[in-house]
Formats: sequence, C-alpha cells, structure tokens
Amino acid sequence: MTILGISGSLRQGSTNALLLRAVAGLLPKGVTITVFDGLDDLPHFSPERDADHENGTAPLPSVARWRTAIDEADALLISTPEYAFGIPGVLKNALDWTVSTVLMDQKLVGVVSASPGYEGGQKAMASLLPTLTALNTRIPDGCSLVISSVRKKMDASGHITDEATNEALIKLAVRIVKG
Ligand SMILES: Cc1cc2nc3c(=O)[nH]c(=O)nc-3n(C[C@H](O)[C@H](O)[C@H](O)COP(=O)(O)O)c2cc1C
Repeated sequence: MTILGISGSLRQGSTNALLLRAVAGLLPKGVTITVFDGLDDLPHFSPERDADHENGTAPLPSVARWRTAIDEADALLISTPEYAFGIPGVLKNALDWTVSTVLMDQKLVGVVSASPGYEGGQKAMASLLPTLTALNTRIPDGCSLVISSVRKKMDASGHITDEATNEALIKLAVRIVKG
C-alpha cells in the first residue's frame, strides 16, 4: 500500500511535514508514505487553465504530476496547519485542481490538523472536511485527528515526544491501512 502525504504548509521545517514523516515510521510493514513536494509548483486554479479535459490538450506539467501522484496512491494523508481559521490557500488550490477529475472519487483520505495553539487547528479541520466531502472522498471514522500544542509534542527533528499523540497517530495509520 502506498500513501501520498500532503502537507498544507510550504514552510521549511513545517511541523505538519514533520508529522507526515513521523507517520512514515509508524506504518505497518509493506505500507509506505511519500510526501508530495509539488504543491508550490501548481498555478492558481482557474477553470480556463483547467480546460485540458474539454479540449483534449495535455494538462500543465505541474498539474499532471499532482494528479498522477494522487492516482498512483492507495490513500492520501493530509496534514495541515490552520491559517486565519481556515486551511492554507496552497492546499485549497491543490484540491481545486482535482475538481474536474474523478481522482478523488471514493479516495481513502486521512486528515490531520496540527497547530501550536490549544485548539489545534479545529477550524482548519472544519473547513477542510466539507471540501473533501464535495470531492466525494472517503474518510473512515477515526481517520481525522486534531493535534493541539503541537510544538510541545515533537522535538526539532520531528520525533513525537508525546505518548498520547504517538498512539493517536498509530491508530490513525492503522485505520487508513484498514481502509
Ligand atoms: C498566516 C498565518 C495564519 C495563522 N493562523 C492561525 C490560526 O488561525 N489558527 C492557529 O491555530 N494557528 C494559526 N497560525 C499558526 C500556525 O498554526 C503555525 O504557524 C503552524 O506551526 C504552521 O504549521 P507548520 O509548522 O506546518 O508550518 C497561523 C500562522 C500563519 C503564518
């Protein structure tokens, strides 16, 4: 099984990107996670730029790469910060590039929202879930996790130092693998 990790943060040293890497170490044998590194290459979405499905031309290379990565993965694991009570624009933009495809239809998705704040990005989660519902993805029970005070729960290298968070991530990973 292959999981595509998607961080909603482009920041060097992003806690969300580190979390995805931490999950890689918690997965059962035979399950791998690859973190997608091309969100920053996607242009701002506009239906005119997304006309390839109508006129038969090839999609933009960055868009093709994003869509292929989704297509080749058995599941997606999104880990996102909260920006201004919502999800970062770069993540919403990437999701908008999938709307004209069927790639997300019944795609298995796990979602983590991690924030240094005590609410843990609950509002980011609350805004991301309807978008994923609009895309008709499949998010099984137990496949979403809000992590508060995240900087106190991992060290600088991304090692999870908080036992409860580690257990919650293992649970989420196992749940995704179960499908
Ligand atoms: C523009 C901006 C807006 C933010 N808005 C929120 C917010 O609404 N809620 C929150 O909990 N944290 C907010 N934060 C703090 C982020 O959660 C924090 O920077 C987090 O570590 C970003 O994730 P990353 O480490 O993966 O980059 C904001 C940060 C930035 C830069």
